[in-house]
Amino acid sequence: MNVLQDLQSRDFEQLVVCRDPATGLESVIAIHDTTLGPALGGVRMRSYASTEDAVRDAMSLAQSMTYKSAVAGLELGGGKSVINAPADAADREALLAAHGRFIASLGGRYIPGADMGTGAADMELLARSVPRVSSRRDPSRFTARGVLRALDAAVEWGNLTVRRVAVQGLGKVGSHLVELLLARGVQVVVADVDPERARRYGVDVVPADDILSTDADVVCPCAAGGVLTEAAIDRLKARLVVPGANNVLAHDADAGMLAARGIVFVPDFVANAGGVIACEAEVKGTDDGIDAKIEAIGDTTVSILEEAAQRGTDVVTVATLLADRRLAKCRHQRPYFHPAST
Ligand code: NAI
Repeated sequence: MNVLQDLQSRDFEQLVVCRDPATGLESVIAIHDTTLGPALGGVRMRSYASTEDAVRDAMSLAQSMTYKSAVAGLELGGGKSVINAPADAADREALLAAHGRFIASLGGRYIPGADMGTGAADMELLARSVPRVSSRRDPSRFTARGVLRALDAAVEWGNLTVRRVAVQGLGKVGSHLVELLLARGVQVVVADVDPERARRYGVDVVPADDILSTDADVVCPCAAGGVLTEAAIDRLKARLVVPGANNVLAHDADAGMLAARGIVFVPDFVANAGGVIACEAEVKGTDDGIDAKIEAIGDTTVSILEEAAQRGTDVVTVATLLADRRLAKCRHQRPYFHPAST
C-alpha cells in the first residue's frame, strides 16, 4: 500500500511534508484526528533511510496518539512530527526553528512535545514561534506512574505474582519506573544498550538482547517500538507485559499471539498515557485532575482485559474499539480548529 492509500485507509486528516532548503530541514507533521481537540504529540528527531520511512513513522505514531488520548479521556487529538536528521545534527537549532515555523503555520492544530531525540530545551526553542508547546516540563515521571498503575491493575485482575520485573531501556521513562519499583522492594532486572545506564541502579543487569526473554514475572519495554516480534513473543517467560514505549508490537495482530500463550498484555497506548495526561495539564495550565486520570489508567486496563476475555478477542482490538467509540460520539466536532485560526 502506498502512503496515499495508507492515509485514506487510516482516515488521516492531514499530512504535511516540510522542506526548507536554507537549513536542510526535511520533516513531517502527521495529524491523524482532531475530533477531541488539537493534535498533541512529540517531535521525533532521528535519521530515516528515506522520506517515506519518516512519513510512515510519523503516521503510526500520530494514530497511536489519537487512541491514547481518546482512551485516557483527554481533550486532545492525535499527531506527531518527525525531523529526518540525526539527533546530533550540526545545526539542530536551525532545523528546529524551521520545523517550528511549519508547525506555527498550522494555527494551533498540532501541539508539539518532546520525543526521542528532543527534550525540554528544544521545546523552549519551538515556543519562540509556536504558540502552544508541551513537555517544557519533562512528562516521563508521569508516564512511569501510569505504567505502574496499569501493572498493578493487571496483576490484580489476573491474580498474578510480581517478584521480579524486567525493564528494557533506562532512559527517562525506564529509570523513573525502576525507582518506583525499587521503592516498593520489588526485584528488578534491567538492560540498556548503554551499559553505563544499566549499571546505575546496582540491580541485576542482562545483555540488551536477552532482557525480553529473561526470567521475570513482568516485562516493561521502555526503549524503542517494534520490539515484540513473533520471535520475541515466543521467547517471553513473563506472564505480563506492560509497555512504557510506544507501538511495541511489531504487528498489532501479534496481540493474539500473546493471548494464545496466556500472557497478559496491556496495550501501550493505554499503559503509557501518563505522559500525555501531564502534557494536557501543562497546556491547560493546571495540574488538577492529573492524579485522577493516572489512577483511571488502572480502571481502563481492567475493563479492557475483562472485555477481551469475555469476547475472546485480543486487547488491542478492544482498546481500539474503546477509542473509536469515544471518537464516534464526538465526531461532529471534527476537525478541531484553534480559535486563532478562525
Ligand atoms: P529515552 O531516549 O530517554 O530512553 C530510551 C532508552 O532506551 C535509552 O537509555 C536507550 O539507550 C535505551 N535503548 C534503546 N534501544 C534499546 C534496546 N534495544 N535495548 C535496551 N535499551 C535500549 O526515551 P524515553 O523518553 O525514556 O522513552 C522511552 C520510550 O517510551 C520511547 O519509545 C517513547 O516513545 C516512549 N514514551 C515516552 C514517554 C515519555 O514521557 N518520555 C511517554 C510515552 C511514551
